[in-house]
Amino acid sequence: MVMPKMSIKVNTEFLAKNSEKAAKRGDLIIIIDALRCCSSIVTALANGAEAIIPVKTLREAYRIHARNPGYLLAGERGGLKPRGFDLGNSPLEYAGERVHGKIILLTTTSGTTAITLSRNSKWVLIGSFLNARDVAEKAFAISKSENLDISIVQSGTNGKFSLEDFICAGAIIARLPQNAIVLSDAALASLLAFKRVENDLYAAVAKSEHSRKLIELGFMKDIKFSCQMDLFKVTPVYKRGKIIKWGSLDLGC
Ligand code: MLT
Repeated sequence: MVMPKMSIKVNTEFLAKNSEKAAKRGDLIIIIDALRCCSSIVTALANGAEAIIPVKTLREAYRIHARNPGYLLAGERGGLKPRGFDLGNSPLEYAGERVHGKIILLTTTSGTTAITLSRNSKWVLIGSFLNARDVAEKAFAISKSENLDISIVQSGTNGKFSLEDFICAGAIIARLPQNAIVLSDAALASLLAFKRVENDLYAAVAKSEHSRKLIELGFMKDIKFSCQMDLFKVTPVYKRGKIIKWGSLDLGC
């Protein structure tokens, strides 16, 4: 008989490429890209999208779309909507009418890379400020029943550490039962950073390098929207190449 763990170890990784490493450890993975990929995924599923298919490259996205013209082609490069795409990467675009019942083919610079690199993990959940409580609750319940540790993978920006993802990891950690987890130093640092700024999250997040670039491109509203804590009770789950809402019929779990 497998004895339940006394405490669940919680770690956080700072870069998209490290999701492969977390998958090899056999951890439950939570992928974060607070600005903006994971906020768009959470919003799309909250607004009734059927599924999201994350892909790494533009070439793959165009190829799959050519065979499935009914899919919405979505994402960004350099923050902007690529040629021929239906949607960009602004969570505000993923509103009810536009995405309801749709399958969305999504490619972004860092977020979909982190997600697809974790494909060999049994459990991959998608987190953001928008669903921090819900994803923390689901992650804890699964980890407890399956004796797994948790790795929160921050996607970062263009291969570099990203402040907003670091703070977002802390927001999710703050919503785990503190007496039942043991934090790595990286996870503790994220938690401390989040606690320091939680009363004015937008002010802290808007200072990040990626936020400044998004503001230059005219996407300040996306940052404000993505900084809303626990707006949605939705946990996206990545399984067999597709992201669907926890509780969907074909999740098989
Ligand atoms: C990414 O995946 O790199 C981001 O979501 C970029 C963005 O904010 O558009």
